[in-house]
This record gives sequence, C-alpha cells and structure tokens, in this order.
Amino acid sequence: MNIAVIGTGYVGLVTGACFSEFGVHVTCVDQDEVKIEGLERGEIPIYEPGLDEIVARNVRGERLSFTIDSAEAIDRALVIFIAVGTPASADGGTDLRFVESVSREIGRQIESYKVIVTKSTVPVGTSDRVRACIQEELDARGMEIRFSVASNPEFLREGAAIGDFMRPDRVVIGTENNDDQALAIMKDLYRPLYLNETPFVETNVHTAELSKYAANAFLATKISFINELSVLCESVGGDVQAIARVMGLDRRIGKKFLHAGPGFGGSCFPKDTQSAAHFARELGHELTIVEATIQVNARQRLRMIDKVVSALDGEVEGKTVAVLGLSFKPETDDIREAPALEIIRGLQARGAKIQAYDPAAMAAAGEAAPGIVLCKDVYEALTGADVMTIVTEWNEFRMLDLARARELMLEPRMVDMRNIYDAERVAAEGFHYVGVGR
Ligand code: UDX
Repeated sequence: MNIAVIGTGYVGLVTGACFSEFGVHVTCVDQDEVKIEGLERGEIPIYEPGLDEIVARNVRGERLSFTIDSAEAIDRALVIFIAVGTPASADGGTDLRFVESVSREIGRQIESYKVIVTKSTVPVGTSDRVRACIQEELDARGMEIRFSVASNPEFLREGAAIGDFMRPDRVVIGTENNDDQALAIMKDLYRPLYLNETPFVETNVHTAELSKYAANAFLATKISFINELSVLCESVGGDVQAIARVMGLDRRIGKKFLHAGPGFGGSCFPKDTQSAAHFARELGHELTIVEATIQVNARQRLRMIDKVVSALDGEVEGKTVAVLGLSFKPETDDIREAPALEIIRGLQARGAKIQAYDPAAMAAAGEAAPGIVLCKDVYEALTGADVMTIVTEWNEFRMLDLARARELMLEPRMVDMRNIYDAERVAAEGFHYVGVGR
C-alpha cells in the first residue's frame, strides 16, 4: 500500500517512518524545503532514540521518501495522513489553519478515492471541517470524487515514540457513518499490530477525536492530583512518594503518572488540556476537573520558584542558581512548556544569575531563555552556585558526585524538584535538601 504523511514534525515523521518499517510505501511531505533536503540526507530534525536508524533503513529499502511535492504524493497514496501542527490560538483554542490548508490542497489534487486521516490532535468536529474543505475544492473543480475521512489519534510519548508506535496499548480508528471501506483500509494498514493482538477501538470520528483529549486530560489530572497532595504533605510532614505508592498499588488506580514534580510540560498536556477546556466551554460545558488540573499545574511551577527562594533564605538578588535539566522531561531536547523555562524566568526576575546544563536541550534553551549561562557539564553549572536545582530527571543527574559538588558550590543546597535523591543521604553529604511533598 502507498500512503502519504503530510507534515514531518514529531508525529508525522515517527508515523511515516514506522509505517515504512511495517513494509508500507510512505511518502512524507513538508513544505519546508530545508527540512526535506536534510531528511533526504538522513538528518533527523528531532531527538528521538532509534528514529534515525529506522529512517535510514527504509530510505535504503525504498519504502520511505521525502518530498515537497504534495501533488505526486497525494496522487500515489490510498491513505493520506494529516500530521501538521495544531498550535494554540490566542484565545486558548486550537489554530486549525494548517489542517484546513492541507485539506484544501488535498481537495485540489485528488483524482480518485482516498482515505484522509487526521493524526494531529484536533478538537472534536475537525474531521467534519476536513471533509467540508475537501468538498468545497472538489465542487470548485466540478469534480465528483468519493473520499473517506477518518480519525486515528496518536498516543506517542516523546523519547519512547518508536516503542509506542510499534507496541501501542491500543489503536483508535474513528470513521464516518458505517464507512466499512475506510475501516477495512485502516485495519489493513495496521495489520502487523492486529496480528500482534493489539486492541483496536473502532468508533465514530467524533469519539476518536475526543478519546485523545480524554486520555491526555486524565493523565494530566493524575499529575495535578499528586502535585496538589504534595502541598498538603509538606505542611503535615507527609511523604508524597509513599502516598503515591499506596495509591498506585491499588490496581484500579495504577502507579504511573503519580510522580510529584514541577508540573507537566511538553507539546501535549498543556495544550490539550487548554484546548479541551476551551472547546467544551464553547459547547456550553465547563470541564471543571480539567480546569482545576490546569490551575494546579500553573501553581505548582510557581511553588518551585518559592522553594528556591526559601532555600536561599529569601535573598535571591545576585545569587547564582545552577539549573540541571531544561527539557520538559528526559530523553528529549524539547523545551516546549518546559517548567524549567518558567522557573528560570521567575528567578531571573528576582535578580538571580542562572547557570544551566542539559544533556540535549542546550541549543533550544539558549534561545528561549536569554541571559542564562550555558555550561558544558553539570559540574561547570555547579561551580560558584548558591543552590543546585534539579528540574528534569535525566539519568546523569541521579548519581552526582556530591562531595565534588559541595566543593564547587558556594553553598551546598539542593532543590530536587523530581525527588530523585534520598533526603537523608544528601543531608549526610552536608547539603541542605529540599524535595517535593516530603
Ligand atoms: C504525552 C502522552 O503521554 C502521550 O500519550 C501523548 O500522545 C502526548 O503527550 P509526552 O508529552 O511526550 O507524552 O510526555 P509524558 O511522558 O507523558 O510526560 C508529560 C509531562 O508530564 C512531562 O512534563 C513529565 O515530566 C510530566 N509528568 C509525567 C509528571 O510530572 N509526573 C508523572 O508522574 C508523569
């Protein structure tokens, strides 16, 4: 089967590469010529473990190609995935400009039956919009061509995206009213997973679109729930990690996504929770729990700034803060909505000097957080620092040489925003230790 994936961002590139690994012939399309030229040379624009090998192997095997020519890719494909960006709009909603323009492009190009699939996370009802845009273009051409629209949301985690695609917990396929043909084609495309007994949820397009928001909002809610409890733990001398363990051992709750920290970031949770709250409000419903999740997350970031301020006894002006970890989570160079950025800005506003280190996100953070000193490693960041803050739990921060750190720092203070250290052990090394919720 031939498919086209339009948009070679995170989702598009991983989707295209992984389908080609299944043996499907994939053309990835993007209007960014520089990016496409880079991809043709084997340069992967994102940091995703394992992706470069899959791309190289399938380009060599002539199952994967890259182009800026959407016409040819659309013509050849039976299934066209829309995987373009859906940024937040100024009013808190979702900007569907790119989805709409790609849909129109498809409407201008198709000559035969196609299944058009939204892969980007889009508000409920977007598939209807996709259909309307394509139909308008077909009408303008005076053409009568049958096409199907489907929704197949992605549940990929950055840093683990290949595994998530190849061994998903489930695949969701939403089709329009009893569209058996589109469903059969989508199932054929995912056949390798079908044979692996991956659960498939076959439903209508609106349900499929909403299911992505439901899953992400629920995971974000788990995080905000435990973060809110961490506040209570701090005031009563409780231990949030023990509480998370007690909760998590109940199989109805599950232990994942109950790690207290500086709040969730990244390209999905902040945007998807905002977007869900926004489109629900437009439909006349208040998603009270989702709204609270967003609020708690914002508060949690500010609490992290307060922790650093109080570790410095309230005197931040002229102090040096070592920030370890800038990406929103480990194993990615992505700094979108990263808690580190807001924490840095808050400390800079109080007059702190920031010395930062991250194993992957230095280049991006240099631009996003002007005025910070980018250091070549952890120990350079700690040199002359009044306090160490661990903002992202990269593995290399888990086993620091604390004796060396103490010698390099002006004052041995650690604010461990990911609870990766044992408080007693750190205190035994002469540090003033501050964790989250314990
Ligand atoms: C998420 C979803 O997991 C994925 O299914 C969806 O398709 C896209 O959004 P991702 O943004 O890559 O993936 O990261 P994830 O690993 O889910 O973490 C999101 C954020 O939550 C990170 O900032 C992380 O640090 C934070 N988090 C996660 C916590 O603070 N505590 C936790 O217990 C888990």
